[in-house]
Amino acid sequence: MAKSLVEETKRITAQFEYTDDDVNRGVLEFLRQMNEGLQNDGTSLSQIPTYVTGVPNGTEKGLYMAVDLGGTNFRVCSVHLNGDSTFDLTYNKVAIPKELMVAKTSKELFGFLAKQIELFLKEHHEEHFEAHQRRRKSSKAPEGYETENLFQLGFTFSFPVQQFGINKGSLIRWTKGFDIPDAIGKDVCALLQEEIDLLHLPVKVAALVNDTVGTLMARSYAAPGKTSTLIGAIFGTGTNGAYVEKITNLQKSVDGDYNKSTGEMVINTEWGSFDNQLNVLPSTPYDKKLDQDSVNPGIQIFEKRVSGMFLGEIARLAILDLYEKPTLSLFKDANSNNNDGKATSRVGEGSGLFQQWGLDSSLMSIAVGDTTPDLSSLRKELESELQIRSASVEEAQAFKDIAYAIGRRAARLSAVALGSIVIQSGRLTETKDESVDIGADGSLVEYYPSFRDMIYEAFKIIKDIGAEGADRIKIGIAKDGSGVGAALIALVAANMEEEETKDTLAALKNATAQKLAGAIPSVGASTTLA
Ligand code: BGC
Repeated sequence: MAKSLVEETKRITAQFEYTDDDVNRGVLEFLRQMNEGLQNDGTSLSQIPTYVTGVPNGTEKGLYMAVDLGGTNFRVCSVHLNGDSTFDLTYNKVAIPKELMVAKTSKELFGFLAKQIELFLKEHHEEHFEAHQRRRKSSKAPEGYETENLFQLGFTFSFPVQQFGINKGSLIRWTKGFDIPDAIGKDVCALLQEEIDLLHLPVKVAALVNDTVGTLMARSYAAPGKTSTLIGAIFGTGTNGAYVEKITNLQKSVDGDYNKSTGEMVINTEWGSFDNQLNVLPSTPYDKKLDQDSVNPGIQIFEKRVSGMFLGEIARLAILDLYEKPTLSLFKDANSNNNDGKATSRVGEGSGLFQQWGLDSSLMSIAVGDTTPDLSSLRKELESELQIRSASVEEAQAFKDIAYAIGRRAARLSAVALGSIVIQSGRLTETKDESVDIGADGSLVEYYPSFRDMIYEAFKIIKDIGAEGADRIKIGIAKDGSGVGAALIALVAANMEEEETKDTLAALKNATAQKLAGAIPSVGASTTLA
């Protein structure tokens, strides 16, 4: 590598250094903002009560539906919970058309979602679907169906939503490139149910689920260990975590009914907006530019340093900066004698390097994962993905170093979030040797090389965790949280409804009995006057 390229690359990677001290400062601030969010509404970490007051133990059974909106794809699934920690899942997946992510009205998006549910039912549950259609036609009831014939559906909606109940909640803000202003403040379950009803589908939106909560439930169902799972976390297009909190710590008011007997509630932290005020988060010129040019400047500041949607863009801005330095020869090196063709490296005009969001984070995983001495896979990918032709080993190395630095900072920031929650839960100190379980999902934990190892490395240097504590924390991949997890919450919701119906029936019975007793005083009955 020409000396100046090496030096300039180091200058850039140094800006992404997130030291041990930074990690510890981050943890203190994260704990502070967590507690602030447990006390008040409208804080940076939203700490949203989810009305889910327990985690499954693997014995849950039944057939449920789930849909998942929150990233690049929309998934419709039916999930058969077998009651022995296993499940069978059938699903359809479609890419969400880009124009719907910024549609004029929410109806366009939710109408599309309902249509996908219809297609799924016709394809995979035709009998149920047709029987329902027949019943509707012959039934005199206005709705035309019996509740028990409906599929209970868990709606995984992975955006910040203020919940009012297990299947009610209004959208606080869009994230991850979605922007449909008329949906803000509306109940997203009602929006979906309306469109489902217009198509006369046998489906009831029974539960509103954030993907992190689904992940937590799915992990708990599939891997019930000695201790129940503490956190569900997503490190994918976006990032966020949900965890089990003691109700006594939840001091802001929670509307509506929920089961208080467990003493716990799952809280959706919405950590993507941790430290929007930039008290402790690092901020390079590339982070600032990314934020300014985004659809939501000033918010999701933590997410913009951690998740897959943004890492590629940070890398693109950093690499473009090097490329544009007239004194440097990155990807335009006439003297490159180390590339296979002995040709001048160059970048095609239509390259993603010159376009916002033009560098996909998956290329960073490939870069960091390429351990061949001549970085041959990376150089091939640079050519096919970014039209960077005839890159030399030195140039590819610069790309790799930058990708590594940005990914490492993201992993250490992730450790701040996870580590803080582990500390807040008290689980490391309340028992001596039990493990603390975390379910995680998303492209970064799955594909970015050593993402989990880098998180563990950072756990070790967190003061209240240390090497021993880090050993007790288990991060396991929890696939299909948004399917299985949502189904599990639909089950919880259905049980809650059953309980409520029982309670209402019991109350009715009671009231009728009292009325009757008042009308015909029973023998020996006495009335006490206050
Ligand atoms: C959303 C969260 C979601 C996360 C992961 C974030 O942008 O605000 O609700 O859990 O992405 O999908």
